[in-house]
Amino acid sequence: MFMPVATQASLKGITPEQLEQLDCKICLNNTYHLGLKPGQEALDTVGGAHKFQSWNRNILTDSGGFQMVSLLKLATITEEGVNFLSPHDGSPMLLTPEHSISLQNSIGSDIVMQLDDVVATLTKGPRVEEAMWRSIRWLDRCIAAHKNPDTQNIFAIIQGGLDPELRKKCCEEMMKRDTPGIAIGGLSGGEDKESYCKVNSVDQCTEILPANKPRYCMGVGYAEDLVVSVALGADLFDCVYPTRTARFGNAITKYGVLNLQKRHYAYDFGPVEEGCKCPICKPKSEGGLGITRAYVHHLVTKETVGAHFLTLHNVHYQLELMRQARQAIIADKFPEYVHQFFSDLHGGDK
Ligand code: GUN
Ligand code: ZN
Repeated sequence: MFMPVATQASLKGITPEQLEQLDCKICLNNTYHLGLKPGQEALDTVGGAHKFQSWNRNILTDSGGFQMVSLLKLATITEEGVNFLSPHDGSPMLLTPEHSISLQNSIGSDIVMQLDDVVATLTKGPRVEEAMWRSIRWLDRCIAAHKNPDTQNIFAIIQGGLDPELRKKCCEEMMKRDTPGIAIGGLSGGEDKESYCKVNSVDQCTEILPANKPRYCMGVGYAEDLVVSVALGADLFDCVYPTRTARFGNAITKYGVLNLQKRHYAYDFGPVEEGCKCPICKPKSEGGLGITRAYVHHLVTKETVGAHFLTLHNVHYQLELMRQARQAIIADKFPEYVHQFFSDLHGGDK
């Protein structure tokens, strides 16, 4: 399953109804952002984030630590929690495991992530091990603080950088806590060159983690990485990539990514992706909008609806990629699926 990211309780530019039309079953919200605005009191008053954003399907909330460390250069971490300066008025604030869970209880998300201590993927030395052990201690504090374990599933997050021994130790410790699902963290960010190392980290974790519980690769979102990670046994993914890249005019297709800002699309009156069943590409005669590459080229980065079109197409692409992976696994045809995916991507005709 791929989870599109609705950081501020919205997938930028598209409505909850449109997201349902894509048959999206679960989206991701960020505790850090919703905790600042609308804030805990508003969330309690309205009765949680499902009601707030008119979304009856599932929500997963990330716990906040990763967002602070990636967004705020000034965040510092102690055993107590993550210290940061309020983006509103610059006053010092502290996000503890207990506070993150309390916010996620108010949000009412279906999947709650533990607060973890995240270090950049390429970090080396004792800081990686410190973050790994601290994430284990913070999971215990999160579990103790969680008020709704029957209705909100808490997931542990494996850390340990690129060190196989630390990853293994972390998996063993987290599994003892017996959470309903487990995430593989510390894979996101940094340069693309690390993808080989990340594949190793996913492999090391999925080899150990129980196959009967969801295994979630956090922040993984390029199509190739999704397909490879599914092959390694991962079940769940999230990434801002498909929605963010849409705003730069990029369409994700089975033959690769097309930048529709390029001049030669000005006279391309074909669909964004031939054969795509999304509401944007589908012809009018089949109930779609029949939007052309030339039209998106004309709009994108100038008129917001151009980005909305590509957002819908890209999210559909990611959801469909994972739907087909699921169907292939069920039909016992997953190797054929992987082969077709890479042959389209590398040998296909744009
Ligand atoms: N999003 C991407 N990677 C991570 C991670 O390691 N931890 C958390 N909490 N969120 C993430
Ligand atoms: Zn499409």
